[in-house]
Amino acid sequence: MAATEAGPIPPLPRFPRDFLWGVSTSAHQIEGAADERGASVWDAFTAVPGNVKDGTTAAVACDHYHRYREDVALVRDLGVDAYRFSVSWPRVLPTGSGPVHAAGLDFYDRLVDELCAAGVRPVPTLFHWDTPLAVQEAGGWLSRDTAERFAEYAAVVAARIGDRVPKWITLNEPAEHTLLGHALGEHAPGQRLLFDALPVAHHQLLAHGLAVRALRAAGARDIGIANSHGPTWPASDGDEDTAAADFYDVLLNRLFADPLLLGHYPEGYGELLPSPDLAADLKVISEPLDWYGINFYQPTKVGAPLPRPTEFSGLTLPPELPFAPREIGGYPTTDFGWPVVPGALTELLTAFRDRYGDRLPPLVITENGCSYAGLDDQERIAYLDGHLRALHRALEAGVDVRGYFVWSLMDNFEWAEGYRQRFGLVHIDYATLERTPKASYHWLREVLRARRA
Ligand code: NOJ
Repeated sequence: MAATEAGPIPPLPRFPRDFLWGVSTSAHQIEGAADERGASVWDAFTAVPGNVKDGTTAAVACDHYHRYREDVALVRDLGVDAYRFSVSWPRVLPTGSGPVHAAGLDFYDRLVDELCAAGVRPVPTLFHWDTPLAVQEAGGWLSRDTAERFAEYAAVVAARIGDRVPKWITLNEPAEHTLLGHALGEHAPGQRLLFDALPVAHHQLLAHGLAVRALRAAGARDIGIANSHGPTWPASDGDEDTAAADFYDVLLNRLFADPLLLGHYPEGYGELLPSPDLAADLKVISEPLDWYGINFYQPTKVGAPLPRPTEFSGLTLPPELPFAPREIGGYPTTDFGWPVVPGALTELLTAFRDRYGDRLPPLVITENGCSYAGLDDQERIAYLDGHLRALHRALEAGVDVRGYFVWSLMDNFEWAEGYRQRFGLVHIDYATLERTPKASYHWLREVLRARRA
């Protein structure tokens, strides 16, 4: 039993025997070895002074590319069933298409072998935001061609590691990649297109659907996607605030889930999207999924627009948007300033079940976690414990959730924040690259050990 300032934590409720426990990472955030792969949009973005708050890049990051054996041993010793990582598209295909970089593809082959030998199921994500720079220069996600190139890349990866991969993820958080990378310019590729970024959403969804088909053609099974979702709370029950909150809810939650699960865009959006044949695209996009992944961190309180920029989650949102997030208040916050509201996970999961009904495949929490400094990270233990209890309440309410992945195995390059937000169960000393399991790692190991007892 772990202890917090408030006293010992009672044991977690029992989860189903076959519930899948895992930890997550992504290539650009941990691998380093940037000179041993093709360039991505993140290399270009982080080279521009001011784009990353602490002025760092991910050229070395955790040097996982060279230390993956040590990292797989940490995953194995933690006792999880599965490890979610991402494949770097520019490491496999340095220019996005064309010749394969043999050493890059070999790396994932070795990583998968190492995981299998450790008794850990490999769960690759094919795209976690590191678009090859050459693909960006050819139009990036604003171009429909990128969806086709992505499906070809998916086939290359499946042909090499598909025989040992039991579960696949196509894309990670296309909503964030659209919003932060293309609408607000806070992430790579740094475009500030506001609503002109909508084609990026459509082309990622199309890429997802084409990749599902390519993976299945290569014999892959158990395919899902990892989307970020969270409840949207109106700042008041006044008309302006509820309209603004609905608008935000559509952008974050429904713009991606509706086409995937219902086969149509939310009202008014289909017309805005570039497509020679939208009905045909939607058929590809809504290719049935084996499961649906949710990344959950926090709920958002949203109100009517304000006449000035709004600071939110480390971002600056411009006043032109038709909504503005508000402070939630009344909850503890992480080092990132994000409110800790475990009950919002139960709310989200039950709302998903209610909205999508029998169109909803089994759910998996593909990311959940928090940023806190220090090795004795009791706050992270409290966060994870609280969210696991909230997840369990959703199970009791009949929501079909099959697994839970902590973000993240180890501290890593947190995008525009650089290294100053630490989400890991394992601490990284960036000067020596030494790995040190934190209190939360030991806590989770005990939780998993008790489950097997
Ligand atoms: C979601 C993203 O998928 C991941 O890359 C990021 O580090 C976490 N959120 C925390 O912000």
